Amino acid sequence: MRTIQLAVPPVAELPDIGAVLDRWQSDDGPLHLHIGDLGWYSLRGGDATAQALRVWRCGDSIRAIGLLDGQDLLRLSVDPDFSHDDSLARQIESDIDSSNSAVFGTGAAIVEARGATRLCDRLKARGWGADEAWTPLSRDLSLPVEEPGIRVEVAGPDDAEAWTAVHWSAFRGVPYTTDARERFVSRWHAMMSGPFSSRAQCLLGYDSSGVPIAVTTVWSAGPNRPGLLEPLAVHRDHQGHGYGKAIAIAAAKSLQQLGSSSASVCAESSNKGAVAAYSSAGYTPRTQVRDLRRDS
Ligand SMILES: CC(C)(COP(=O)(O)OP(=O)(O)OC[C@H]1O[C@@H](n2cnc3c(N)ncnc32)[C@H](O)[C@@H]1OP(=O)(O)O)[C@@H](O)C(=O)NCCC(=O)NCCS
Repeated sequence: MRTIQLAVPPVAELPDIGAVLDRWQSDDGPLHLHIGDLGWYSLRGGDATAQALRVWRCGDSIRAIGLLDGQDLLRLSVDPDFSHDDSLARQIESDIDSSNSAVFGTGAAIVEARGATRLCDRLKARGWGADEAWTPLSRDLSLPVEEPGIRVEVAGPDDAEAWTAVHWSAFRGVPYTTDARERFVSRWHAMMSGPFSSRAQCLLGYDSSGVPIAVTTVWSAGPNRPGLLEPLAVHRDHQGHGYGKAIAIAAAKSLQQLGSSSASVCAESSNKGAVAAYSSAGYTPRTQVRDLRRDS
């Protein structure tokens, strides 16, 4: 029997890894690690993205791909044909629990492994508990998508400052200092010229007086597969006026034009505003999912 081996891939393999992740996306399957998650992580550059990946192979064939999204969080996709495979689950479990830091150090850790049925069973049996709840949402793109009701443009290099400023305001809410701006803009350019940039479209929405107020990035996994929204944000001073709904509709429209079968997103269930905005934009909430947590 061939053994399953874990490796950190070289940066040159990123496009191939993205292509494998694409093949694992389907509307019937779980909303698991998507090329868009790797794409958003690539704000940190291609080398850092490769370093954060953990790839399990059997011979030449990739069976599972994990992104260490921070030291203690592994976000994992498993080949859907092997979601119930015990030998794969055993190997991943052993690497996760290993003291050689192949994945985690000792102490608290979280695994997001939405399609990895066997692995989740094994981790639960070993005492891993449920972490906070997330709500996957998706919008079927086989039907027409309405106009968003605001002007929305695809953001080019000259829009990096405006795009990042809206994102910063929504997620940080502290002043966008010169240092922070220079750093974020440079990371944005790294992402948009990085290994997954051909799959990305950054969108910038404006209010009626031409002020940029809403942003999102949509990521295509190729025709007839679910595309991903990551991230989506409305400037803090402009929330509560329908712009979140509008940019989520614009995201669906863009993904439809890119050939996606659906527009998907996963929001923390506690983020009531996000779940409400997506729902209002025609995204249907699916059953809540929880990551698995090992306490220290
Ligand atoms: C989530 C976010 C994008 C929503 O944008 P917004 O412009 O404030 O939302 P909208 O005004 O378009 O509201 C859309 C709907 O959601 C509802 N809603 C908005 N915030 C809400 C809240 N906190 N609680 C309950 N409902 C809320 C609105 O009432 C509206 O409902 P309706 O269309 O049925 O009337 C915005 O709050 C944001 O940028 N938050 C920080 C970043 C973030 O969390 N992004 C999402 C990550 S997945």
